[in-house]
Amino acid sequence: SDNLLVLGIETSCDDTAAAVVKGNGNILSHVVSSQADLLVKYGGVAPKMAEAAHAEVIDQVVQQALDDANLTEKDLSAVAVTIGPGLSLCLRVGVRKARKIAGSFGKPIIGVHHMEAHTLVTRLVKPDVEFPFVALLISGGHNLLVLAQDLGQYVQLGTTIDDAIGEAYDKVAKWLGLDMKRSGGPAVEELAREGDPQSVKFSTPMKQHKDCNFSFAGLKTQVRLAIEKRKIKADVPVSLATDQDRKSRADIAASFQRVAVLHLEERCQRAIEWSMEMEPSIKHLVVSGGVASNQYVRTQLDQVVSRKNLQLVCPPPHLCTDNGIMVAWTGIEHFRVGRSEPPPPACEPEDVV
Ligand code: KG4
Ligand code: ZN
Repeated sequence: SDNLLVLGIETSCDDTAAAVVKGNGNILSHVVSSQADLLVKYGGVAPKMAEAAHAEVIDQVVQQALDDANLTEKDLSAVAVTIGPGLSLCLRVGVRKARKIAGSFGKPIIGVHHMEAHTLVTRLVKPDVEFPFVALLISGGHNLLVLAQDLGQYVQLGTTIDDAIGEAYDKVAKWLGLDMKRSGGPAVEELAREGDPQSVKFSTPMKQHKDCNFSFAGLKTQVRLAIEKRKIKADVPVSLATDQDRKSRADIAASFQRVAVLHLEERCQRAIEWSMEMEPSIKHLVVSGGVASNQYVRTQLDQVVSRKNLQLVCPPPHLCTDNGIMVAWTGIEHFRVGRSEPPPPACEPEDVV
């Protein structure tokens, strides 16, 4: 099964991505087409527009992934595609493409759960991450703590009761007048390095709730009020701010980040304790999703994990954000144990998916 060749397609949110991965973990190609420009222009993802943008580039992105891998559709063992969660209009673009290839070339198809893909890509990078393990998934749309007991077997320990942490980073970036050409997270992380994390006293979310759920809406409000109080104007970009104004924004960025991540730390510590009771053999905390590429997040969670004698495992940044590699790899894991669907009929009416 080391020679399996699986194409992975991902269109659940605002990136159109495809990749070819080999059963032995070799990444043969990796293509991502981002809608970041559209996001800036329209200030968010509008499903209809996102669907059109995926539809416009999907053929090209998949072709590029095959070309870069020096393969044609015929060489593939199977096609893996994200089937959820995500915007259904967008998901459908990827699913339609996957079914078309699978149907035309008689290839099995593997439906992949986006969050499982974020989790399992860690095992591509570090094969000694064996079940059971604990996983924290932090992105723009999701905030999840799970106990991964086996392939396809996950116990949800906690989730967000309102916003995801990535969403909070993005909003804070916007309010602080940061460059929104890319997503807000990296910009906040960068500015936070210039600030004093103790300067603004935000309170930690859900202190009184002794569970593993998350909440970021309250913290967002606290940050917005602090920004208003300091009369920071989002329409003045930070690059044009006075030194004092810039320092003031950096202080807010650093203070927000400290408390947001402290919230993650507390939840992870409890999730590890809960999990150890169910599965004492746990050795790893896997952290993935866009926000896992944040260096401060990694450093802080590493301390939590070390205190519990576990190991922290984060995929490299390009595998933390949405990509086709994680979908292809998750496809491989399922395909190996016989979980795939037979090829769909070669010609199917456009409206079956
Ligand atoms: O996993 P992902 O690419 O897409 C979703 O499934 O949402 O995550 C994107 C999110 C965005 O909110 C982005 O601001 C955040 O991840 N992000 C970061 C960093 N890099 C990306 N947040 C904080 N620090 C970063 N370095
Ligand atoms: Zn994602």
